[in-house]
Amino acid sequence: MEVSRFLFTTYRDKAIAKRALIRLLQNAHAGEKAAANAYFGHGHSLFVRDKTEKQEIYKIYLEELHHRERLAEFLIKLGSKPRVLREIGMWFIGFFIGVFSFIGTWLIPMYGAGRLESTNIGEYEVAARLAWLAGEDEIIEELLLFAEVEWDHELYFREKTLTHPLGKHIPLWVKPASKEQIRSSFFAFKKEHS
Ligand SMILES: [Fe+2]
Ligand SMILES: [Fe+2]
Repeated sequence: MEVSRFLFTTYRDKAIAKRALIRLLQNAHAGEKAAANAYFGHGHSLFVRDKTEKQEIYKIYLEELHHRERLAEFLIKLGSKPRVLREIGMWFIGFFIGVFSFIGTWLIPMYGAGRLESTNIGEYEVAARLAWLAGEDEIIEELLLFAEVEWDHELYFREKTLTHPLGKHIPLWVKPASKEQIRSSFFAFKKEHS
């Protein structure tokens, strides 16, 4: 994994790795709020009428809020806190996406969510590696777990997108590697650089 090599060469120094980890967790913390706002609107959308589908999106919404809660605790533990301006900006972005999802189509929010979730997987994989480089071992397990949860979210929205007649004809985002690979590649990274 090219990213892993880059991370190791750039963030060998514990203090530098910790600073990068804090910045990444701050971004993720704000991003989770944007996602939660978007899913709240999406779950209440006029186009999502199926009760099971509403419940599934609500479950994802709660999982994003849980991630956010834990990220805030990680930041405190690392001697930091969320960045106010980023929080406000992402809150509004999520709010507008949520409003659009409420009045928009069925397909576009499903597609957009899948694309977003695919980047979230990598974000937590990088965070787990930075935590290891920074010597913050106790948060690694949860960061890997978050990556796996985002993997489930991506799969959910990918499958939903593909159930739509148009979904089969639009180019999708790059399919993530297998879920198992999240942990196996992390442990390979650790072994290679220990
Ligand atoms: Fe999340
Ligand atoms: Fe997610």
